[in-house]
Amino acid sequence: MFENMTEKEARQQILESVAKYCDQFHNKKDDFKPGDRISYASRVYDREEMTNLVDSALEFWLTAGRYTDEFEKSFADYLGIRFCSLVNSGSSANLLAFMTLTSPLLSDVDGKDRRVYPGDEVITVAAGFPTTVAPIIQYGAVPVFVDVTIPEYNIDVKKLEDALSDKTKAVMLAHTLGNPFDLRAVKEFCDRHGLWLIEDNCDALGSRYEMPDGWHFTGTVGDIGTSSFYPPHHMTMGEGGAVYTNDPLLNRIARSLRDWGRDCVCPSGRDNLCGHRFDGQYGELPFGYDHKYVYSHFGYNLKATDMQAAVGCAQLAKFPGFVEKRKKNFAHLVDGLQTAAKERGFDIEDRLILPVATPHADPSWFGFMMTCRDNVDRKSVVTSVEAAGVQTRALFAGNLTKHPCFDEMRRSGSGYRIAGSLTNTDEIMNRSFWVGVYPGMTDAMLDHMCKVICDALS
Ligand SMILES: Cc1ncc(COP(=O)(O)O)c(C=O)c1O
Repeated sequence: MFENMTEKEARQQILESVAKYCDQFHNKKDDFKPGDRISYASRVYDREEMTNLVDSALEFWLTAGRYTDEFEKSFADYLGIRFCSLVNSGSSANLLAFMTLTSPLLSDVDGKDRRVYPGDEVITVAAGFPTTVAPIIQYGAVPVFVDVTIPEYNIDVKKLEDALSDKTKAVMLAHTLGNPFDLRAVKEFCDRHGLWLIEDNCDALGSRYEMPDGWHFTGTVGDIGTSSFYPPHHMTMGEGGAVYTNDPLLNRIARSLRDWGRDCVCPSGRDNLCGHRFDGQYGELPFGYDHKYVYSHFGYNLKATDMQAAVGCAQLAKFPGFVEKRKKNFAHLVDGLQTAAKERGFDIEDRLILPVATPHADPSWFGFMMTCRDNVDRKSVVTSVEAAGVQTRALFAGNLTKHPCFDEMRRSGSGYRIAGSLTNTDEIMNRSFWVGVYPGMTDAMLDHMCKVICDALS
């Protein structure tokens, strides 16, 4: 098959066939007809993702390699941040970001002990995804839950001071469904009290926020940001995630923890980049012990493969277009729901609370969140919307403290704290639902969603 060809020519021929295969057998969808299923999220890709994936497979490096380097650099450039580490999921990114704050290397930062110890407190919310909170509990630190606001679905910053104690060391929060939390207030609170800020940016990639010094991408204002590349998210590589920071020390710790806890920074397959592999003194090891096998942390292996990164590189090239489409789809749903309700003789806001962007924010929406007014039964709305083919979602855990994973802690009354009450969090658990705005949605699908939701409310 490849007679008289160089390896490069053979690879080119394979990749051309893959591109044709993708064009012919993927993404050939019929026009939308009412009744067709409209999922809340879906991958949007073409021949570029597939050829990158196969190119990486043919190279057969498998572990982090040239596509990983390219992705980490391009992703950091896009966000305008110095350091990015690719990992194997958003949950791993949150684990790595949090555990970075527990490093002994933070026990003396400009004369202050900034290290998070077991028993220290971390301010967060219960209305969200479990793995924003799980690393805090797994380490033996104490999450302190603060209520959220409706219709922003983010932390109620008026309650931050009440949540503070002399054990508070950090704030770890997600930007809910793409809507940035009040970064001005949260950052100012963290700076004033010397707290770390981790932004779980898994649902908000591409969202921007205007700080007093100008616009920034969410995930880059706090000390560490995290992303997820699981298929429903803003971009995908199947499984994948990223941890990013502007701080060289936090980056060094995160890299060490990601890569088995090692001290050495040589990429896999490369040795002695610094030229000092055999001439250092580490711990109580013999002088000159091979730096490649010196461990400064009790680490993990959270690396992704180069095939994931290859898909990510192609997705990233399309990413600004995805963000614009998400914003457009969100605006379409706001207008469409108002119009469809009017046609049926009611005002949408009398039956549903529609989502609202946080002041100073330019959200790259992940979803379109709605809360039923008292006169509307969520179960019957969601049941008829789903029956009409439109997929709905709850705000993940709703109120995380109500889940079975909290049974033991609830019974013993230890291991977590609730600052005040979680009234709105419970409202969201009982009355909210959301639908998608992913870039593959067409105007016909969005119009149909408005019709179906308003029919259910009629
Ligand atoms: C806010 C948030 N953080 C973290 C995650 C975890 O990401 P992953 O599924 O890649 O582990 C999710 C998952 O959807 C999420 O919504």
